[in-house]
Amino acid sequence: MKVTVKVPATSANLGPGFDCLGLALPMYNTITIEETVLPGTGIEINLMSEREIIDEMMFDNIPKDENSIVYKAVAMLYNSIGQEPSELKINIQTQIPITRGLGSSASVVVGALLAANKLLGSPADTTALLSIATEVEGHPDNVAPAILGGFVMASQEDDGSIITENLNWPDEWDITVCIPEFELSTNIARSVLPEAVPMADAVYNAKHLGMLIHAVNTKDEKLMKSALHDKLHQPYREKLIPGMKEIMEAFKHEDGIIGTVLSGAGPSMLVISKNYDLDKIKSTVKDIWESLSIKSEVRTLKIETKGAEIIEE
Ligand code: HSE
Repeated sequence: MKVTVKVPATSANLGPGFDCLGLALPMYNTITIEETVLPGTGIEINLMSEREIIDEMMFDNIPKDENSIVYKAVAMLYNSIGQEPSELKINIQTQIPITRGLGSSASVVVGALLAANKLLGSPADTTALLSIATEVEGHPDNVAPAILGGFVMASQEDDGSIITENLNWPDEWDITVCIPEFELSTNIARSVLPEAVPMADAVYNAKHLGMLIHAVNTKDEKLMKSALHDKLHQPYREKLIPGMKEIMEAFKHEDGIIGTVLSGAGPSMLVISKNYDLDKIKSTVKDIWESLSIKSEVRTLKIETKGAEIIEE
């Protein structure tokens, strides 16, 4: 039997929502799991990209053995029903750029879990799959919108359970995704974060996250403009991302620009706007990165309201 799942890209954090906010975007990875008939073949993981030549470094980022996050996720699911995974062929067709802060690893974890769950006769419900995916990823902000679609607030509680809440992203707020050609692994981007932060910074983010949720619910772009500020992760990551500061500065005082934030751990960025010239956003971002000899891809995308789905079985 063979199952194929299509999973959207995701952008986590949205400024102050560090590790708890994320939205799905219309770029997809496709994950196929096939039971192989030959015993002793173990688990084979193959990676193919529609966008880029997969070089050694990228391959290293998605290990293909027992250390692979895909393998870990699938093993956890099998173990939860007292079984061990074996004789599986996992093919990952990637369209989502790797190590750019667009949830490519969350998408393969989610895709592999949904496919494996189907192969097993669907023993796990969405909540159980979310828990396993969060366990593997370390935080729920990418996996929740990857599974559920849309704009999602997700929290892993102390007992390990996951709470999610879908929020309605205002249609008139454009999301421009700015993807530089260079990569930044989440591990490196997390390694620059401090163990503890000043109380004032924690309070700052709590206030801004509250404002953000209210702004989205009431479609209040003025409040959203104030809300999209963060002191828990972006200031520490700025040094890893050439051009980030300049891009944020360029849009800071522009009417029609609601805000500029890092996408996940970076290096991609999101520019959120309303009734603003989208070509101008594109040329401004491209020019800034080009002046630093960095190529980029800049695209305005609609939020993807659909989460992961089984497209073939
Ligand atoms: N919330 C995570 C981070 C997203 O910022 O590190 C990246 O996976």
